Amino acid sequence: MRAITFSEYGTLDVLQLKDVEKPVPKEAEVLIKVHAAAVNDWEEGLYSGKPYFMRHWYGWMKPKRRFQIPGCDVAGTIEAIGTGVTKFQPGDEVFGDLCVSGFGSFAEYVCAPETALALKSKQMTFVQAASFPQAAQLMVQGLIDVGKLQAGQKLLINGAGGGVGTFGVQIAKQIGAEVTVVDSGIKLDMLSSLGADHVIDYTKEDFTRNGMQYDLILDTKTSRSAFDYIRALSPTGIYATVGGSMPRYLQALLISFPLSLFSKKKIFVIAQKPNKDLAYMTEMFESGKVKPIIDGPYALDKYREAMAHFLKAEHKGKVIINMV
Ligand SMILES: NC(=O)c1ccc[n+]([C@@H]2O[C@H](COP(=O)([O-])OP(=O)(O)OC[C@H]3O[C@@H](n4cnc5c(N)ncnc54)[C@H](OP(=O)(O)O)[C@@H]3O)[C@@H](O)[C@H]2O)c1
Repeated sequence: MRAITFSEYGTLDVLQLKDVEKPVPKEAEVLIKVHAAAVNDWEEGLYSGKPYFMRHWYGWMKPKRRFQIPGCDVAGTIEAIGTGVTKFQPGDEVFGDLCVSGFGSFAEYVCAPETALALKSKQMTFVQAASFPQAAQLMVQGLIDVGKLQAGQKLLINGAGGGVGTFGVQIAKQIGAEVTVVDSGIKLDMLSSLGADHVIDYTKEDFTRNGMQYDLILDTKTSRSAFDYIRALSPTGIYATVGGSMPRYLQALLISFPLSLFSKKKIFVIAQKPNKDLAYMTEMFESGKVKPIIDGPYALDKYREAMAHFLKAEHKGKVIINMV
């Protein structure tokens, strides 16, 4: 089968499209014929081997064999099942996030535990299905599980134009929140079209210094200091970050406990729980409440363009690689 693979750490150039052996499902695993996969930050982390502490899992000097094909979001058709699989059968169309089960979706076939997958809605294309698992999961956790977002509350999403934020705007509008989005100017029209009430171009305005305060700030970039975010929260406001600048991410983590002793404001650093809400995402999609914003799709042999486009943050929504 064809797969995007790498055998040493480095820049984007270490990724190569190669013919490799088709995998065979082990016990409790299924073999998926991949139709589409989404690009995430994970890919750069894997092939660059950074941040370095991640090498504890992926291999210190070079990537371990089982981590040599990147790709976590997957949508495809089950071709074979291993012993003990009870949830699926060959022919089932599935989607899911493989980030805790060995990655590998940038390939024509991948094996995955059945627990990492859910049935794909017939109403969803494979390209749409691949856009959901990781990005929408982070937003459901951020807005609903941690943020406890309520109708009428003021929400700000920082870094809203990518995969996570474009789902977030739509989910938050369904909840009935007043939504402000922050991103670069070229993404703001698209975000307004998704229902954002207010838009801020971060290259022109610092939302932490304009006097506005929010009940919930959901951050995909952690681009400012934790103290700036605290200033922009209402007296009982919540700041929740899913990722971004590592030093700022750690600063937010360190400040969260002392802040809770002196203030009703709260800081949360979210650790994703993969695939927890695939059924909820399906329901939101089928009822027409959420539609994925797709950048691409790119053919498998155009993976380098797709990755470069994502790394330069030129994309809007989710960048998708199409295998068929
Ligand atoms: N917590 C977990 O367990 C977990 C798991 C997986 C992923 N993650 C994290 O979740 C995040 C994924 O977000 P995503 O996929 O939506 O990212 P994305 O697609 O890269 O989107 C981020 C957006 O932020 C914008 N941006 C860049 N600098 C900014 C700034 N200073 N202020 C405001 N906006 C800015 C970018 O556009 P411009 O560059 O054009 O401005 C882009 O539109 C990543 O940080 C990833 O590491 C976390």
